[in-house]
Amino acid sequence: MRIKFARLIALIVVFANVIVIYYSLRLFVSFGGFKTYHSPPTIKTTTKSPSKHVSKLVTIIVREFESFENDVTSTVQSFLNVFPNIQVMIIYDSLPYPPLDINLKNNSLKNVKGFALSSSLKVPYAERYPVLQIKTKYVLFVPDSTRISSRQNLQLMVAELGRQPSSIIVAPVSSKKELGCLRVNVNVREWTLKYSSTKNNLCDAVTGKHFILMETDLLRQLPEPFILPFPQSLYIQTASLLVEVKILKGMFFQEGKPVLKSHHAQFKQKQINTERLKNLYKVFQIKQVVRETGLTEWYGCTRETSRCFGTIVDQMPSYLYEGRWTPPCCLSNLRKTAKHVFNSLDEAGIRYWLEAGSLLGAMRSGDILPWDHDVDVGFNRDDLLRSPWLKKAKDKPVVDSKGFLWEKATGGNFYRVNYSKSNKIYVNLFPFYSKNGTMAKDSWFTSHKNMEFPENFLHPMSSIEFIGRQVPSPNNIRDFLELKFGKGAIENPEYPNPSRLPFP
Ligand SMILES: *[C@@H]1O[C@H](CO)[C@@H](O)[C@H](O)[C@H]1NC(C)=O
Ligand SMILES: *[C@@H]1O[C@H](CO)[C@@H](O)[C@H](O)[C@H]1NC(C)=O
Ligand SMILES: *[C@@H]1O[C@H](CO)[C@@H](O)[C@H](O)[C@H]1NC(C)=O
Repeated sequence: MRIKFARLIALIVVFANVIVIYYSLRLFVSFGGFKTYHSPPTIKTTTKSPSKHVSKLVTIIVREFESFENDVTSTVQSFLNVFPNIQVMIIYDSLPYPPLDINLKNNSLKNVKGFALSSSLKVPYAERYPVLQIKTKYVLFVPDSTRISSRQNLQLMVAELGRQPSSIIVAPVSSKKELGCLRVNVNVREWTLKYSSTKNNLCDAVTGKHFILMETDLLRQLPEPFILPFPQSLYIQTASLLVEVKILKGMFFQEGKPVLKSHHAQFKQKQINTERLKNLYKVFQIKQVVRETGLTEWYGCTRETSRCFGTIVDQMPSYLYEGRWTPPCCLSNLRKTAKHVFNSLDEAGIRYWLEAGSLLGAMRSGDILPWDHDVDVGFNRDDLLRSPWLKKAKDKPVVDSKGFLWEKATGGNFYRVNYSKSNKIYVNLFPFYSKNGTMAKDSWFTSHKNMEFPENFLHPMSSIEFIGRQVPSPNNIRDFLELKFGKGAIENPEYPNPSRLPFP
């Protein structure tokens, strides 16, 4: 009798609950339900036991390890000890050799999977994209040779990400080493990547050994989520999406078995990483990297290589169509060539002046226009033979004592100085002569920007600051430029062939 009564009470309670839940849901839906993806956060530290959920919310990803020496097996095992059912992905370019101790085909470890990113005749396209296989809301990137000893750290990270879902949450490994926090500026148009230090625990990129928790949705937005070196590659991509990284203070994971400690292993890894970095910058089209120390690294053309772009059609280099300006290495090489040309012309006593787009750049910023691919100089044809190199170049191309190549341009009566025999970025030298009050030219160029002009622009000559020095120029530069380019050219400069595409 008493048991029956208790059952009845239980039934009534269950029924009442169902009704309450039903009406709460209706009320919730009538208020608009889940308006945005992120609210309300799934997990709060205050909810009773988020630990049960963490396994279902997070996929562990192991990406940073060397096949020749690693601690991946024990690292993964340490996670499985704490979260037996959590999904684990081990991602590598090609199957590690020597093989990992984990038997990835062992059925009792269904939740641990290996993924090779490199293509193979045997692997279907879709299977090479592990990001499509992740089923959980979050991913946790775990560096090699680490341990987790309790559920709490991961729960704290998940709770923090719940509070600021569109960011990245980072936690250190070991309490001894402080993590670095960097600001990252990715300038696609100028092919550059700039790092600067910050004392904050909120920034764009983290250095030092750490765990990374983020939304799978964010990972899916990245063009190359797993490219090496990781996680540098990750932060370049998230920084360009303006995603912030937060370092959690007062908690840390444990170190695993020491790896890559020997002199030989470190040397080997450093070499591999240099190659990975080069490849990364190639893929992301970054040609100049400024480190937080102020050190500048170049990944573009050099004097010994060819320049960074191909033959120019209709005066519009290919990069302009990609929404980019001149690669910084090209601008730098062009400045060096121009300085050398100015010095040579000065030495020979040739009357010359800055022309066209270069003069426009000088007026605007004292530099080459950031999208320009050459430097234009006019000179007095009567002085030509004073320069030994111009004189020689009349007959055939000649490399001068400093390695610059002088030539008479094909299809024209003008001259060119190329940076080197291999790197053909160049300065144009246009000969003009005085004819009845006009600076006239032979038929070397059809473009309006190098057209003839009244001689009085050169009487007297003036000078202007350009690439860090004073360079001779016509007087009345504004009138001179507006004569060549039209009114307002200095304030609103255009691409060489603007009809080809709108100005950015
Ligand atoms: C599969 O993994 C389990 C747990 O690590 C281990 O006990 C078992 O021996 C493995 N089986 C095979 C066939 O490798
Ligand atoms: C100099 O550079 C121009 C433009 O890139 C190129 O067309 C020319 O062939 C180069 N001259 C020589 C001799 O390589
Ligand atoms: C020289 O210029 C003046 C005025 O611009 C013009 O009248 C004259 O015809 C020109 N002479 C020649 C030979 O072109």
